[in-house]
Amino acid sequence: MSVSGPHGGVLTDERVLVLDFGSQYAQLIARRVREQNVYCQIVRHDLKAVQIAGYRPKGIILSGGPASVYEAGAPQCDPGLFQLGIPVLGICYGMQLACQALGGQVQHAPSREYGRARCTLQTSEGLFAGLPDAMDVWMSHGDQVTSVAGDFEPMAATATCPIAAVRHRQLPVFGLQFHPEVTHTPFGSQMLHNFVMNVCGCSGAWHLGDFAAQTIVQLRERVGPNRVICGLSGGVDSSVTAALLYKAIGSQLSCILVDNGLLRKDEQATVISEFTNHFKADLHVVQGGAQFMQTLRGITDPQEKRRRIGHMFIECFKAEAAKIQDAKYLAQGTLYPDVIESGAAPDGPAATIKLHHNVGGLPEELGFELIEPLRDLFKDEVRRLGAELGLPDTLVWRHPFPGPGLAVRCLGEVTDERLEILREADAILISELKSAGLYRRTSQTFAVLLPVQSVGVMGDARTYEHTIAVRSVDTDDFMTADWSRLPYDLLARVSTRIINEVAGVNRVVYDISSKPPATIEWE
Ligand code: XMP
Repeated sequence: MSVSGPHGGVLTDERVLVLDFGSQYAQLIARRVREQNVYCQIVRHDLKAVQIAGYRPKGIILSGGPASVYEAGAPQCDPGLFQLGIPVLGICYGMQLACQALGGQVQHAPSREYGRARCTLQTSEGLFAGLPDAMDVWMSHGDQVTSVAGDFEPMAATATCPIAAVRHRQLPVFGLQFHPEVTHTPFGSQMLHNFVMNVCGCSGAWHLGDFAAQTIVQLRERVGPNRVICGLSGGVDSSVTAALLYKAIGSQLSCILVDNGLLRKDEQATVISEFTNHFKADLHVVQGGAQFMQTLRGITDPQEKRRRIGHMFIECFKAEAAKIQDAKYLAQGTLYPDVIESGAAPDGPAATIKLHHNVGGLPEELGFELIEPLRDLFKDEVRRLGAELGLPDTLVWRHPFPGPGLAVRCLGEVTDERLEILREADAILISELKSAGLYRRTSQTFAVLLPVQSVGVMGDARTYEHTIAVRSVDTDDFMTADWSRLPYDLLARVSTRIINEVAGVNRVVYDISSKPPATIEWE
């Protein structure tokens, strides 16, 4: 569900449009703009200029994308949009498209440029106001703008990319070859701030509180007198979804919690007590552990695990939902990253990285209409919304947990014995992290049980036992992440306690990979 209709200026008179050319980062761009308190909406890349003008945007951003602008069938925009007088910022593919449309040349680069690059700025005005002369930027491209017609002025360069940023001399059109939206470009937010505030002239009056109020009204209108079923996982996403619905429709809400036997230690009890303390809505708990273990027997392939868990989840959910009379809608806490990382973004050919079982499938199977009030939001926006709605801190700040649960952290076969090892190790890790006061400072921390055994020595005996990997990341959008620099003494305590207290583990390792290129979960 969107915040507003395509043309209705419901929440704000100031909006920036992102034209999506299939970038993994289109949503991230939108989020960075919203951080400036400017409402931002993603739209199809092939809208006609007149349709774009109909939105009355203050600015237009052309996203990156996987294609080459000179290939047949590459997604194009209506060149008329450059003549609307509305400021345009092209990012990566978007810059190449703008340059090509306005007379520049784009070619395959001698070598694909991927990762951090040192960028030197040739101006300190407009887009680059207040920035240092040189900075790190994140590049990810195979093509480059190789020459710009006299109409464009180059604004920045890297060692391998002589035209890393441009501005048009007459039109309000700008281009960045690198990605300002990812955290690996430290001054990227400042550039987007400069674009929306200085170049587009936005004032920054949009707030998330508006989103809550508006969404509650919209939910009430849409649901009418009907009943809504909401899948609850105990995570912040489904809790905020339930909270929004509870505020909108109260007793017309029924929640279903499927315990798949893949939850963390004591999680089911915690979720139930938090839920019943907070809401008076109808709660159904399905004890599905045995069925899930049965379907996972002998399975080691990550996608197959997800697929089977997804199917079993649907079965359990369906059986319970059938007991709830007169339900018409199904609510899910799907977020932007779930949509984009599943390749399910409308009009976006972004690659499928993982199958996220909570996206798609469920509603058709069940015959309900789908309600996804958080579909436009990122995790930290959802947290702020949760706080705004009065949810307790323990819920709002709980680290995210994947739908397939511990199954995707138990590499190899999922057995009761291996799950028990993982659960105990994870509980020790989290309790030490909390004692060190770092739980809220990290975004997601968990233990992973590896499918390797290694040699050790305990007392005088040789051991040949399991390895636990500790994963901890810092991120605010979960699309990109860096590994947490946890203090050595904390890591030492975690390692000692896990090896001493969890039978079957003789080695603990720490994962020092960032995303990209690694993902947060190991499967
Ligand atoms: P990755 O591992 O893709 O994770 O970097 C990004 C965020 O998504 C969570 N995640 C999932 N959530 N179903 C979910 O509901 C899934 O299959 C799934 N896989 C990953 C992950 O925990 C992290 O927060």
